[in-house]
Amino acid sequence: MSDERKILVTSALPYANGPIHIGHLVEYLQTDIWVRFQKMRGHRCIYICADDTHGTAIMISAQKKGVTEEEFIAEMSASHQTDFTGFGIEFDNYGSTNSPENLEQCNRVWKSLRDADMVVEEEIEQLFDVEKGQFLADRLVRGTCPKCGSKDQPGDNCGNCGETYSPAELVDPISGLSGTTPEIRKAKHLFVQIEKEHAFLDEWIQSGSVPTESANHLKGSFLNEPLRAWDISRPGPYFGFEIPDSPGNYWYVWFDAPIGYIGSTQQWCDKNGEKLEDWWNSESTEIHHFIGKDIQYFHTLFWPTMLKTAGFSLPTKVHIHGFLGVDGEKMSKSRGTFINASKYLEHLDPNFLRYYYASKLSSRVEDIDLNVDEFVAKVNSDLVGKVVNLASRTAKFAGAVGLSDKYPDDGGLFAEFATAGDPIAEAYEAGDFSKAMRQILELADKANPFVENNAPWELKKDPDKAQQLQDVCSIALNLFRQLSIYLAPVLPDIAEKCGELLGEPITNWEQSKTPLLGTPVNKFKHMMQRVDPKKVQAMIDESVVIEETAPAVIQNFDDSDEALKAEPIEDEISFDDFMKLDLRVARVVEANEVPEAKKLIQLKLSLGGDETRNVFAGVKEAYEPAELVGKLVVMVANLAPRKMKFGVSEGMIIASGSGKKEVYMLSPDEGAVPGQRVH
Ligand code: 2FM
Ligand code: ZN
Repeated sequence: MSDERKILVTSALPYANGPIHIGHLVEYLQTDIWVRFQKMRGHRCIYICADDTHGTAIMISAQKKGVTEEEFIAEMSASHQTDFTGFGIEFDNYGSTNSPENLEQCNRVWKSLRDADMVVEEEIEQLFDVEKGQFLADRLVRGTCPKCGSKDQPGDNCGNCGETYSPAELVDPISGLSGTTPEIRKAKHLFVQIEKEHAFLDEWIQSGSVPTESANHLKGSFLNEPLRAWDISRPGPYFGFEIPDSPGNYWYVWFDAPIGYIGSTQQWCDKNGEKLEDWWNSESTEIHHFIGKDIQYFHTLFWPTMLKTAGFSLPTKVHIHGFLGVDGEKMSKSRGTFINASKYLEHLDPNFLRYYYASKLSSRVEDIDLNVDEFVAKVNSDLVGKVVNLASRTAKFAGAVGLSDKYPDDGGLFAEFATAGDPIAEAYEAGDFSKAMRQILELADKANPFVENNAPWELKKDPDKAQQLQDVCSIALNLFRQLSIYLAPVLPDIAEKCGELLGEPITNWEQSKTPLLGTPVNKFKHMMQRVDPKKVQAMIDESVVIEETAPAVIQNFDDSDEALKAEPIEDEISFDDFMKLDLRVARVVEANEVPEAKKLIQLKLSLGGDETRNVFAGVKEAYEPAELVGKLVVMVANLAPRKMKFGVSEGMIIASGSGKKEVYMLSPDEGAVPGQRVH
């Protein structure tokens, strides 16, 4: 074919630190659908992916599991690939960033960056875990935000006030690896000066390769000022590739991850006798990346800079999708909406999700929502009710005689369906799958009334109408076939079953232009069950994870037992005995010296309103009267008044300590008010 295009397509490389979930699947299904569409259009299209395997998180996970990093990533890769296969996602090559092919490409890009004088060295301050003997990644440190003082914040930005900072700026930092206090150490890092390509990036992001909304965002947030040099090295120990000309330092995972696109292509080329240059260095090859909006920064600033410097082709298009929500909220483990691919497959047909996502995806960078009720309704009414039904209601009547030899008069339906193939293809090409699905369903809405009006089940009853019955079924089955062709990128299983039913595999878009005639119709096999809402609920129920909260404990406490020894615990009392004691919050409203008494201060305590009590408290050696005024204390309010030398004491305040200077008054936490009972 003269207009055959050569297209290399990638999805973001899934990180090898956890299983695939329904959020990931938006992208892999979106890409798979687009790739299948291109292949059906007769183009040479390869779909390249790999596991993204390096970095600190993988090291820690492997350590926790007691396996080597290599073992850990091998197992994860196998599980990712099983999930992808389960959803019908077909890669031409699925590699790993921890491969010799990728290392070779990393070296090549690195050398180009060095040759272009893009790399500089700088000493930076980083937190070092002395116990573990390693520098800490930003997310491995927690501490108090230097701006708002909020505790237990990660090392890169504050979850409370949003401030960004370096881990070394955290107040009271604690290592996530050992729980110890890390120290600040200097370390050499290598930086890529992407600012040198500022002018190129300015132009490239406006070239149509990046969605307009993303281009505007990049222009307003990053390209409006000098680009900060990109820190691409990490000191060892680090699971990754050691930088050849900087021993002890490793490429940061985000350096070798996108190069993994090229490394995995190299693997595919080696297996298929192809040349890498024909795919990554050829004006006639298109390169399409599918990514989520969270990683656009890497793919539209660093990545084009690396590609340009190393002499590779630039991406033709970066397709950017939004995040997945479920029922209008973020996916949540506690609500059971953080659903792993494997859990989904235990309960539901992958085609349901393929179709549902297709019906939601557009070419815009927008979030999509999986509404569970809509999911059930859409699949049942569109796919089962309108598409599959077309075949199930007619195939059985055509089995004996096959399809008519001559295409009967259908009032122009087949021709109309054939013409609709062009706008549907345009929508697929643009990534506007929801539009394509709408157009296809509009056709189904025309095919179904045809069947109902011609009621083959009635024709069947009249032997004189055998020809009419065959004609009606031939029309309905050919219309069903056209729909199956148009849906094939989304629902390859339906296309395959349609091909089996009518004796000709569906492989190409053009097949929608010519009806099948005079061929047998095979026995109708079930194509798709309805979605059972009970199974959806079971999947959600089984996905619920009770979130583990960090236990509120102090690891190292070494309080002495002296106090307990000096004053052992009293005999047990009953609950009723305890309830007899009426402890109340009170405010010190007046505090006076009692000059004659060595230990006493006279306090006027308010219990709220006009209720006050006069109490002589033995705290003089530890407190000044002035510092007590205004303070909230706890008093025994129903103690019988005691006549003392200096007056009557109408209660007692609660304090601990052995007396003399060792007196600690108990005061309630903020918020308590005078008069409240203490239980
Ligand atoms: O965001 C992620 O999950 C990364 N693993 C994506 C990498 S995409 C590419 F650059 F490799
Ligand atoms: Zn803060």
